[in-house]
Amino acid sequence: MEAKEAKVEVGTAVAEKNFIDVTDRRTGKSYAIPLIVGKDKAAIDAMELRQIKVSGDDFGLVLYDPAFKNTASTKSTITYIDGDQGILRYRGYPIEELAEKSNFLEVAWLILRGELPTKEQLQQFTDDVTHHTFVHENVRTFLDGFRYDAHAMGMMISTVAALSTFYYEEAKNIESPETRWHQIIRLVAKMPTLAAWCYRHHRGLPYVYPDNSLPYTKNFVNMLWKIGEDYKPSPVLARALDILFILHVDHEQNCSTSTMRVVGSSHADPYVSLAAAMAALFGPLHGGANEMVLRMLREIGDVKNIPGFIERVKRREALLMGFGHRVYKSYDPRAKIIKHTAYEVFEVTGRNPLLDIALELERIALEDDFFVSRKLYPNVDFYSGIIYQAMGFPVEMFPVLFAIPRTVGWLAQWEELLRDSEQKIARPRQLWMGEDERAYVPMKTRG
Ligand code: SDX
Repeated sequence: MEAKEAKVEVGTAVAEKNFIDVTDRRTGKSYAIPLIVGKDKAAIDAMELRQIKVSGDDFGLVLYDPAFKNTASTKSTITYIDGDQGILRYRGYPIEELAEKSNFLEVAWLILRGELPTKEQLQQFTDDVTHHTFVHENVRTFLDGFRYDAHAMGMMISTVAALSTFYYEEAKNIESPETRWHQIIRLVAKMPTLAAWCYRHHRGLPYVYPDNSLPYTKNFVNMLWKIGEDYKPSPVLARALDILFILHVDHEQNCSTSTMRVVGSSHADPYVSLAAAMAALFGPLHGGANEMVLRMLREIGDVKNIPGFIERVKRREALLMGFGHRVYKSYDPRAKIIKHTAYEVFEVTGRNPLLDIALELERIALEDDFFVSRKLYPNVDFYSGIIYQAMGFPVEMFPVLFAIPRTVGWLAQWEELLRDSEQKIARPRQLWMGEDERAYVPMKTRG
């Protein structure tokens, strides 16, 4: 219930609880600041602070929160995380149940539309996505312009932004729910095609076109690895990717989702907004960490080198990539499921020797006070890369494999933003700490 909007019965216990009293010692004035009460936390409306002034021309108070460590940018009903309990739910459904019982397109519908689909809805959604997997032939020439060894994520970001040029006249009409839904279908459908073609370009292999007789993830596997007509996508690897996709779909207001919302708030089209979100995801502190975990494990090279590496981390010479999280202060529930999935994949691909280093690294870190005291646990990126490498992906593809499913989350958050009457173009404030006014100094008199 929002004290700000709803009539709060003055004088009742509820009313007193829905306010905080603030006294400004500079003036001796007190203010009753109404609370906005969410299901998991309460907030103050930052604009209420503007009334707290020392004089008539005072701007009033603002909140100072670099990196938004304690700032709610939106209300949302999409993904719920309890970082202390290690809980992650999509529209109320526990991630563990969805990973075990659902599939990626069903979860995509859930995240995008808010409810599990009926049989007919899922069939229609699957048909719509299946019939939008092709990309314009110009995309081939666009991809061929990249160096043979171009990083796959750099290619993906550029190519998704370029999709805007194919659909701009339609996609810029972001006010139309029908138009938005059409672009959402296109992006969900085309991301695997673009990703597979970036992989094939990287490997110097001819592009494999979508085979619309195959289900979503199997189609992706086919476009990635098909060589010759007798290729059959492995059902185990396709299911493992499906589970990994489900685990990566959304994660509330993380860095890349916030980027999607900020860019989307200017009413930019969904293609360039998504490219911006992908760029944020690419950072090594965010979705680029899965690639960095593999590079770290390769650098460690052997279990006997782990103690030396841990000492380097303690000396702040290196980060333990794949560990730590802004929200999770316990084991990331996704990491648990990924770790379990790894063993199923290794049945098909053979055991990845880097797993032994990862397991020993985790064992040591979870006993060492440096990590325990900072509540650093494995996050979603710690084990995913080991699976991807065992499947045969080069490390440059790892952030791409994160971006494909997260496209659904970014688009659902974008849709929620555009439907939220409280949202406007994002434009934070600052605290000015610079020079007062001063006159221009001619070059000849400068020191
Ligand atoms: C994702 O937000 C999301 O939901 C993201 C994500 C999603 O699904 O969208 O979950 C995906 O991005 C997962 C995170 C992947 N990144 C990494 O694995 C990179 C390594 N992790 C760190 O860079 C770090 O843990 C972050 C960026 C993930 C979180 O950083 P915070 O919340 O800003 O925490 P912090 O940097 O303030 O760290 C607190 C302390 C510091 O030590 P002190 O200065 O207090 O002594 O812990 C230390 C940090 O130095 N620390 C680490 C560490 N992470 C934090 N020290 C060594 N190795 C690490 N990995």
